[in-house]
Amino acid sequence: NNGGRINVAIDGPAGAGKSTVARRVAEQLGYIYIDTGAMYRAVALAANRAGVLPSDADRLAELVKTVDITLEPGADGQIVRLGGENITTDIRSREVTLKVSEIASHEAVRLRLVEMQRKLAEAKGVVMDGRDIGTHVLPGAEVKVFLVASVQVRALRRYQELSEGELVPLEQLEQEIADRDRSDESREFSPLVRAKDAEVLDSTELTIDQVVAHILDLCRTKTAEA
Ligand code: DC
Repeated sequence: NNGGRINVAIDGPAGAGKSTVARRVAEQLGYIYIDTGAMYRAVALAANRAGVLPSDADRLAELVKTVDITLEPGADGQIVRLGGENITTDIRSREVTLKVSEIASHEAVRLRLVEMQRKLAEAKGVVMDGRDIGTHVLPGAEVKVFLVASVQVRALRRYQELSEGELVPLEQLEQEIADRDRSDESREFSPLVRAKDAEVLDSTELTIDQVVAHILDLCRTKTAEA
């Protein structure tokens, strides 16, 4: 028995607002929020520090065997640790952002992280965001949402998040987001694709509150059925 709890899967391309929305939904439900992108980012950071290239399948397979990633709830969202060290800010660097998609394309990396993700969701009561949660990690999730938004809006949102020291032209961000979409969608192992039973939500012209309210409605319907 899961105490009436369900699992919620939120997938979609970079910058569609998944993490903000998923965190708020989790807060409202009293559930645990799990940002799987942060786990791939942690591996990318670990690889970077160890001097392992994003193309080096063998060394990455070795690295993920021993990598120690933990997620814990913090005051403003999830705290990510690598071997105990707080890397929450480091994994958002441009360097990590530019390398993570290739890192995430390796089967050995995905197998290891998916195993961790399934364990975290075993007891239900999680809101998990990523690219392959509804299709592959938690195919049995009671609520599945595929959150999308136009490339322009997503680039603009990222632009507004950048600090002064790392300003990049908006057009360049659009290009990088489009490239990352293509790379995430075209990889061989669990690419970014909508689960057949996921509801598509386009956030281009919706506020965060509207998206959150809609997902909470879906959750209420499902918990009532559960
Ligand atoms: O959501 P994000 O930008 O933090 O994700 C970082 C990268 O990790 C993204 O390029 C795709 C990859 N990723 C993935 O392949 N599978 C997931 N479940 C989550 C993220």
